[in-house]
Amino acid sequence: MAYNFITADEAAAMVKNNDTFGLSGFTAPGVPKAFFEAVARRAEKEHEAGREFKINVFTGASTNDHVDGILARTNTMGRRAPYQNTPDLRKRINSHDAHYFDRHLSDMAQEVRYGYYGKIDYAVIEAAEISEDGEVLLGCGLGNVPTYAHLADKIIIELNSRLPKSLYGMHDVYLPLDPPYRREIPIFHANDRIGRPTLKIDPAKVVGIIRTDSYDGVKPFTEPDAMSKKIGSNVVKFLLSEYRNGGLPKEFLPLQSGVGNVANAVLYDLGESTELPQFMMYTEVIQDAVLELMKKGKCTFASTCSMTFSDNVESELFSNLDFFHDKILLRPAEISNNPEVIRRLGVIAMNTALEADIFGNVNSTHVLGTRMMNGIGGSGDFTRNAYISIFSCPSITKEGAISNIVPMVAHADHSEHSVDVIVTDQGIADLRGKDPVQRAETIIENCANPLYKELLWDYLKLGKGGQTPHTLAAAFALHVALSETGDMRNADFAKYC
Ligand code: COA
Repeated sequence: MAYNFITADEAAAMVKNNDTFGLSGFTAPGVPKAFFEAVARRAEKEHEAGREFKINVFTGASTNDHVDGILARTNTMGRRAPYQNTPDLRKRINSHDAHYFDRHLSDMAQEVRYGYYGKIDYAVIEAAEISEDGEVLLGCGLGNVPTYAHLADKIIIELNSRLPKSLYGMHDVYLPLDPPYRREIPIFHANDRIGRPTLKIDPAKVVGIIRTDSYDGVKPFTEPDAMSKKIGSNVVKFLLSEYRNGGLPKEFLPLQSGVGNVANAVLYDLGESTELPQFMMYTEVIQDAVLELMKKGKCTFASTCSMTFSDNVESELFSNLDFFHDKILLRPAEISNNPEVIRRLGVIAMNTALEADIFGNVNSTHVLGTRMMNGIGGSGDFTRNAYISIFSCPSITKEGAISNIVPMVAHADHSEHSVDVIVTDQGIADLRGKDPVQRAETIIENCANPLYKELLWDYLKLGKGGQTPHTLAAAFALHVALSETGDMRNADFAKYC
């Protein structure tokens, strides 16, 4: 079939107010780069003419400034799910201009198929290549593209000439059946391949192909700061002691690691360890550190939804694809984050908290319980189902004005029933097998910053019984002090008791 090559502005001219888009990609890689810039230009004209013009955007995870950033700045974002991390969109979400619902990443595709969120008007897909009969060679991130492409009425392709055709073979495109016909996901080792190397679409749905040549624009990682290094080395210390004590099998287990500097610091440290054997990753995102570990032979394989490499590391990957080709497999989000597979493989989950409370509950998403930061992302998929779930965060933030260990989290994303270990720069709290009071003692002693230890001990002593001895009137005293005075150290329990 002969496709119609069009410009991004021609594609944007087709869009109607309140259309819903399903995008390929996961974090910046794999996400379209030209089309939504044109939609934003169109929106500005519509808004100037006094017409309502917003669109709904469903993705795999976060996107890039070419999507979330520009649509937020032009107030064009209507409904948005399942994850974002852009400052401009964050503002729109917290002012209710954009309607964001924050979902576990593994749930999104099936919920769209179940019809929870209405119909998908367009799938917008970044591709390295498309054949006449609709075989699409995808880019460096998949997200929920198999579902969006399957359900969408129309498809727009962004053909990115920067993507090498030799990516062929690195994708594992798989769409599970829905209940009551769902079967087991047949992944028994992190490197099992279960799907197709390309995405098959109906060529008749393709309304236009836009040519692009853009980079993903992922910033290079800065050298981890002293805080990240301390946290990272505590996580590694914990993993090593578990390994030595037989808490982990001698073959080790696949790792999941969140994004950011702490995650990178952990991976670099693991690479330095001579005691740990080679390992695989079963994760949603791999960052620059993983490529280094592969070159060293420490990480032998990574199953992921996205290769979130900074631009120069991505260039290095593309120039050495022969070496990395059989060491990385890109899967859809509902497979990379699949609870059944995570539990079967015994994945070690390592995620970051905004704050944790003394009883082991974790807030990953809401500053002061009200302002959305990013979203839960894949942290819930992994935490709830992992062999062992580790959360890390600094013990203090903003030069001590904030304690990241608090009496009660102001928003709960991960409960005490799923969180096994908390790690800060101060140390490690292994919560397994401990009752709530024992957990509180361990967390305050090992993880709280000396600036806040006494305050937290005082809170624990206020308790008048019950298995989890909260004093409800005082539970948010630290948060109230932060919002009223700018410093949690001004908390005064006596005011409430
Ligand atoms: N209260 C108020 N503000 C806080 C805070 C707290 N307890 N903890 C951190 N902050 C502020 C920081 O000061 C910083 O503010 P700034 O931007 O003004 O400097 C901001 O929040 C981000 O903190 P930082 O320590 O830089 O966070 P991070 O980059 O390590 O990210 C999360 C931490 C929790 C926001 C991030 O990991 C996340 O979004 N997690 C959810 C998704 C996820 O876990 N995915 C995992 C699979 S990839």
